[in-house]
Amino acid sequence: MNRIVFATGNEGKMREVREILGDLGIPVVSMKEAGLHPDIQENGSTFEENALIKALTVHSLCQDIVLADDSGLEVDYLGKQPGVHSARWMGEDTSYEIKNQEILRRLSGTSGEDRSARFVCVIAAVFPDGTTAETRAVIEGQIADAPRGEGGFGYDPIFLLPDRGLTTAELSAEEKNEISHRGKALRQMRPTIEGWLREEKTGVRWKLPE
Ligand code: IMP
Repeated sequence: MNRIVFATGNEGKMREVREILGDLGIPVVSMKEAGLHPDIQENGSTFEENALIKALTVHSLCQDIVLADDSGLEVDYLGKQPGVHSARWMGEDTSYEIKNQEILRRLSGTSGEDRSARFVCVIAAVFPDGTTAETRAVIEGQIADAPRGEGGFGYDPIFLLPDRGLTTAELSAEEKNEISHRGKALRQMRPTIEGWLREEKTGVRWKLPE
């Protein structure tokens, strides 16, 4: 084991991951950079299941520490849809302009608490010996009245942070990383990875009790 492989092809996610885990002393690479192109069947019904499916699929192809995330938007008024289907909701190839407009349309006539929503992120880790770990984090907000902002991706233009009066598309990449579901879940996972790396170096885990 000499790398962390993050199971994504998304460069935006890789930037966030490197910012948070880049100083652990081992390279952090994407699947593509690791030369891996697995066919991942994301058919779980929870963020936890999907994150673990991705991480275990990549783990079966390499000897590295593997991390994967699964994330999405839960809109309470829509029964927590699009949820685990966030990327595929209304079709994978449908633009987010259209998806966001559809969410706004379905919420028309509602206000305040009725528009509550959250981004959820689960990070799964699989270590070279097959040990697994997961962390989950959320960022609470509301669906905005109209799309705003040029930053971020996906549902960011309609995800309002009521305390700031800004959507997550109006934050800089650094600001979003500090408070985002993915940033928080990655920071929660960090001590577990550090623990594994320490054990690897010292071999403490394999010492017989005296
Ligand atoms: P995943 O890549 O399978 O985890 O799919 C996550 C999907 O959830 C993305 O394609 C977006 O639709 C949505 N999503 C997750 N995180 C964010 C975010 O930070 N901003 C906007 N949309 C997000």
